[in-house]
Amino acid sequence: MDTLTQKPVLNLSSLNLEEEIIELKKKLNAVLLVHYYQESEIQDLADHIGDSLQLARQAAETNADVIVFAGVHFMAETAKILNPNKKVLLPDLNAGCSLAEGCPAPIFKKFKEEHPDHIVISYINCSAAVKALSDIICTSSNAVKIIEQIPKEQKIIFAPDKNLGRYIIKKTGRDMLLWEGSCIVHETFSERKIIELKTGNPNALIIAHPECEESVLNKADFVGSTSALLKFTKENPANEFIVATEEGIIYQMKMASPEKIFIPAPPDANCACNECPYMKLNTIEKLYLCMKDGKPEILLDEELRVKALKPSKRMLEMS
Ligand code: 13P
Ligand code: SF4
Repeated sequence: MDTLTQKPVLNLSSLNLEEEIIELKKKLNAVLLVHYYQESEIQDLADHIGDSLQLARQAAETNADVIVFAGVHFMAETAKILNPNKKVLLPDLNAGCSLAEGCPAPIFKKFKEEHPDHIVISYINCSAAVKALSDIICTSSNAVKIIEQIPKEQKIIFAPDKNLGRYIIKKTGRDMLLWEGSCIVHETFSERKIIELKTGNPNALIIAHPECEESVLNKADFVGSTSALLKFTKENPANEFIVATEEGIIYQMKMASPEKIFIPAPPDANCACNECPYMKLNTIEKLYLCMKDGKPEILLDEELRVKALKPSKRMLEMS
């Protein structure tokens, strides 16, 4: 007993957390949505694993009563925007994203007001408040397709990722006004170290997420969202890949192609900076506890949710 609270102390190490989570999923009629950057033990428990767009689609279509989101805050918040009547749980509410944090809604609102003739297309890695200020949301897997549907004469603000924005400009030839945000994980990949790796492994293909800096994207044989990168490694006959995105996805790449070699692209410093510190805040213990306790839960002001829903629905319609 905890003598202060008189509640029995839960000894998590005595539990089989995998089995407990499977039981809780049944008991709660919950669906567990998991992003590729989560720890492998969480990935193994997923009902659906995917990139941001695939998980948003799953959230929009599910019949479950509870959505448990093993990903970061903006992903769980998007699930809530699409499902006001469902309970949405996130194992750790501090699992944020540097892109979302680097685009505060009040400052973004001013920026938007300075350019009244522009429409706003926002990358899904932003807060509900920024989504509410946007005309259309996109992810890295549908951004090019969505921008290509906008009339040529229409001016566009793209936020918050300048690297993805630059990549889209290059792919579509569209001029867009970019918000100066970036991902702390993808901007750490070192072009110099990637070239060194390629020199030592000349047959390896370099694959990169479009959140990487332009110098890294210029060296890549293939650029795509997490699910597009995974698909590429399955379908391409090459046997070796240098992977310039968060290392969590390599688990799925290895499972899909056990005979192939996957080399994580090195960050600039000698650190584990190719791990997303926000994604890794979710642990299997916190996942179990959030399902057992029914919290932390994502809650949204209804007026804000309705405003954020419109551009999110447009994304689903346009992609
Ligand atoms: P994806 O949509 O490609 O999964 O990317 C999400 C993300 O946060 C990448 O850092
Ligand atoms: Fe955000 Fe970067 Fe982490 Fe993706 S990897 S969730 S963009 S901080």
